[in-house]
Amino acid sequence: MKAIIFGITGQDGSYLAELLLDKGYQVTGVTRRSSTPNTQNINHLLQKIKLIEGDITDPFSVNSIVALEEPDEIYNLAAQSHVGTSFNQPNYTWDVTAGGTLNILEAIRFSPRKDNIRFYQASSSEMFGKNYDQIREGDPSKPDSIKTKKYQDENTPFMPQSPYAIAKLASHHLVRNYRDSYGVHGSCGILFNHESERRGENFVTRKITKWIGEFSQWLTSMGIDSDMTTISTGDTIYVSGRQESFPKLRLGNLDAKRDWGHASDYVAAMWLMLQQDTPDDYVVATGETHSIRDFLYAAFNAVGISNWAGFVVIDPRFYRPAEVDYLLGVPNKAERKLEWRRKISFTELAERMVHNDVQKARLRRPSLQTISQCCSQKG
Ligand code: NAP
Ligand code: GDD
Repeated sequence: MKAIIFGITGQDGSYLAELLLDKGYQVTGVTRRSSTPNTQNINHLLQKIKLIEGDITDPFSVNSIVALEEPDEIYNLAAQSHVGTSFNQPNYTWDVTAGGTLNILEAIRFSPRKDNIRFYQASSSEMFGKNYDQIREGDPSKPDSIKTKKYQDENTPFMPQSPYAIAKLASHHLVRNYRDSYGVHGSCGILFNHESERRGENFVTRKITKWIGEFSQWLTSMGIDSDMTTISTGDTIYVSGRQESFPKLRLGNLDAKRDWGHASDYVAAMWLMLQQDTPDDYVVATGETHSIRDFLYAAFNAVGISNWAGFVVIDPRFYRPAEVDYLLGVPNKAERKLEWRRKISFTELAERMVHNDVQKARLRRPSLQTISQCCSQKG
């Protein structure tokens, strides 16, 4: 079997490439030109995969790649995937995240091999935006036990809140339309947030765990235990009796809730969708929701710090013009029809990410200037 992955250098692309190689696929990844190398997520795979230069916004390059490679499966993971950035670059986000999908669908529609190609589209829980459904759960004989659960599933109406989510929703409807109009075997995975050790550094989980890694390394390099008294004033952390200081972690809205899983579990669902004879759309999620505060607690806890609040500054620059406050996905359909199960829990996810970043910081030993730039300017 032969697969093309658009977006192979990203978090999901790298895990999906590993999964397909394990299953004996020939994997072709499409990468766009970059002035400096950006293959860190797939360097360990470079001997086993084929890379082709191409850009999803260029219909000619997309067409020729689909024609020349003759794939059985195409996975579209390419996107301008940062919600905050989409407010600053809505046009660009639209071209990549909506227009790019159209380019692939057109390439499939006009391919003489159309009926032999299966297509996966990376849809997003962001498409639900402000909307959720509600159900009352509990023991009817114990009124106190009855609680209202808010959730999203395949039947929840969409109400996107950002240029990114609107572009994703356009792609979602395009896939349905090409399925109905032209018989394209296209499936959409409505994936809720999934993170990992390979997560981009300006998404909130990785921004937190990277800061913890750098901070732990700073403490270690100065011979300070994490339980020694730190004094936090304003934007800076000091240690009693010492001169050196460390910039605090700057974040935006800590009250938003997300349904966070691990990316390695989620790429398995993508593959399972394309093994079904009938194309369809599926929610992929854990069924749990946690606030950014919960993630901070779990992540700081992984290095033995319980009072995370003293290390964080709220910076309005990281607020979004419109927010998605609450996501909790119910993956019943994926569990029933695809027999998909997630394996990695919320706490394990946070611990794995922190331990990876602590390890990386140890190897990197960055300058304070680098830390300050990475953690205060981006994300
Ligand atoms: P990611 O790490 O941001 O990766 C995005 C990939 O798209 C990168 O390989 C990037 O290449 C590539 N790309 C961007 N613009 C391109 C262009 N013009 N032409 C070709 N390739 C381009 O995203 P991810 O977290 O792996 O997510 C994968 C997909 O799932 C994305 O579509 C995302 O929107 C969607 N999604 C993600 C989540 C999540 O929680 N992770 C949830 C739901 C949906 P460069 O390396 O060159 O930038
Ligand atoms: N990035 C970022 N940086 N987010 C912050 C920060 C910060 O400093 N502080 C608070 N947040 C809040 C955001 O406002 C948002 O409510 C939440 O943390 C999660 O933000 P991100 O990690 O950037 O992810 P996202 O939920 O906006 O989008 C991710 O998940 C979507 C699926 O629901 C991306 O991976 C999208 O591509 C994906 O579709």
